Amino acid sequence: MAEVATRAIGAPVRRIEGRAKVTGAARYAVEHDPGEVAYGWIVQAQVARGKITDIDDAEARSQPGVLHVLWHGNAPRLEEVSDAELAVFQEPRVAYRGQIVAAVVADNPEAAREAARLVRVKVHEEPHDVGLRADHPHLYKPDKVNPSFPSDTDKGDVDAALARAEVTIDHTYSTPAYHNNAMEPHATLARWDGDRLTVYDSNQGAAAHRAPLAKAFGLEPEQVRVLAEHVGGGFGSKGTPRPQMIVAAMLARISGRAVKLPVTRQQMFAFTGYRTPTIQRMRLGATGDGRITAIEHRVFEQTSQIREFAEQAATPTRVMYATDNLRTSHRLVRLDVPTPSWMRAPGECPGMYALESAIDELALAVGIDPIELRIRNDADAEPDSGKPFSSRNLVACLREGADRFGWADRDPRQRQRDGRWFIGSGVAASTYPAYQRDAEATARVQPDGSFRVGIAAADIGTGARTALTQIAADTLGVPVERVRVDIGDSALPRAGVAGGSMGTSSWGAAVAKACEALLAEMERGGSEAHADTKAEIEAKKDLARHAFGAQFAEVRVDGETGEIRVSRLLGVFAAGRIVNPVTARSQFIGGMTMGMGMALFEESVMDRRYGDYLNHDLAQYHVPANADVADIEVAWIEEDDPELNRIGTKGIGEIGIVGTAAAIANAVHHATGLRFRALPIHLDGLVGAGT
Ligand code: MOS
Repeated sequence: MAEVATRAIGAPVRRIEGRAKVTGAARYAVEHDPGEVAYGWIVQAQVARGKITDIDDAEARSQPGVLHVLWHGNAPRLEEVSDAELAVFQEPRVAYRGQIVAAVVADNPEAAREAARLVRVKVHEEPHDVGLRADHPHLYKPDKVNPSFPSDTDKGDVDAALARAEVTIDHTYSTPAYHNNAMEPHATLARWDGDRLTVYDSNQGAAAHRAPLAKAFGLEPEQVRVLAEHVGGGFGSKGTPRPQMIVAAMLARISGRAVKLPVTRQQMFAFTGYRTPTIQRMRLGATGDGRITAIEHRVFEQTSQIREFAEQAATPTRVMYATDNLRTSHRLVRLDVPTPSWMRAPGECPGMYALESAIDELALAVGIDPIELRIRNDADAEPDSGKPFSSRNLVACLREGADRFGWADRDPRQRQRDGRWFIGSGVAASTYPAYQRDAEATARVQPDGSFRVGIAAADIGTGARTALTQIAADTLGVPVERVRVDIGDSALPRAGVAGGSMGTSSWGAAVAKACEALLAEMERGGSEAHADTKAEIEAKKDLARHAFGAQFAEVRVDGETGEIRVSRLLGVFAAGRIVNPVTARSQFIGGMTMGMGMALFEESVMDRRYGDYLNHDLAQYHVPANADVADIEVAWIEEDDPELNRIGTKGIGEIGIVGTAAAIANAVHHATGLRFRALPIHLDGLVGAGT
């Protein structure tokens, strides 16, 4: 591994595009100006299951300014679509309420919207089923869970160990559906020049969006260019192409204009993905002194009729605690619902809510402090696979967190009061895998001695552009001001998505390698170099690589009204090398704030009669506001793990949300003596806690 001097890495370098963003100079997808432009508007299905018998678009087409109305009866055939959510207007079947069934393109957005309202969709409605249940007759075992883990694992003899255990815990936890709500809704601007297609799209990876788009329209990848220079958040919902991108390209082709197609906030609750609701049964067995002898984690969740999405909610349990007997399973049911998709820490986030709640219940059952219980059951090899960890600093996070939080002063007795408020505190652990994907990058020295680096990476608001610039500057041995990193364009060297918390590790390694190659090339009189990290990733040792963390929460619960305030949150993480402490802190507190939303505010409520999520906007889907976040602190353990990648990073985008909800739920229990096993925890469950 090459020696990288660290001058910029670890320094609090300000966000490079920060000024452009706050002055409005940064352009987001549909803010680009392609010249003469038309506007699209989407029409959605109003039934949860059925077949469209006809669409009457005469009135819509007769409106002034309307160019076309597109639906399955007149839309172009798509060539190859691997994700059925992208197969828009290809058949009359309606698989979920809110699915795209038609689209209008018009001279201006108002005309497009009005015409969309006038499109008459005639549907033969069929009875629907949108209810997830752990005893649903159509539950099945998926071949694998995301991204490619076995659905089930079974080590040792869980049943025998549970039967022998001195203490057992057997509880079922549930989480509702959650919807991503990035500040910038999904949006696409599409333009054709002959048989070449250019799209400005709000997404987490330009290169990853180019291939499916090219395939859908039967083009070579070189005929398609996807640009996503600035993106206002994604959290997974923009990690895979969403159907509006296909619709925009269709509307642009048929109208001969560049077409802007922004998804509305309301539409985001249908076809841009969400986190599946989960039902999770946790069984733990332990000795009287708190040594875990068995863990069983069974997960039930939903997917759609048109595509399987299998959230890996039990996978963190395969990583966390030492036990000889460990069983995990995932069961899905296909319902008449939109396809679930990625949402920050898919799998780990709901899974660790269940595991870390159950661990808290075990700690109380055996009468051992919950931090001590976790330390006592720390694993020195990955419990399920037996693989050694490249590094594991869960215990260090718990200890550091206990010090910072003042855990030693905590009275373990419940229902401590401060006037009308009950006060309690809770702890939970975090984990998230440290992935790395291969990527390519180019580096070039310019005539003025500055450097230019290119990679099709994405900065969705994380600070990725800044981190990559720091990595390049240190490798080249120059100040960050002399390096420019170009990202967000599929014409740049190939790179994976900003997802799975692997952006900095994957792209940073390619950038560092390209810059090293450039230095060698410059010795030989050259000025440009290219690098690919595929070989070095294939040569990596077979180790378990994960980030860990510890989350602490203090809550105050009003004994009369049930109001819950999170008065303090602390997260301590061990996530490899931290490239930029300022942007990293933002990532961690962002994740923790989303975890607070998961615990207390967010919930997509299914209306079983109409088969749709009832809340379609931020007035009804509540996310934490500034006033909800009283005091949030982040710290990290320095980790120097040479087995990760060239730059020693583990990824920080997702671990911040993992464990937060359990820490808050555990704190609510400590405060009130009431255990909530279904999120979110609402005050109606707490009213009168004081009586
Ligand atoms: Mo993240 S949910 O893998 O973009």
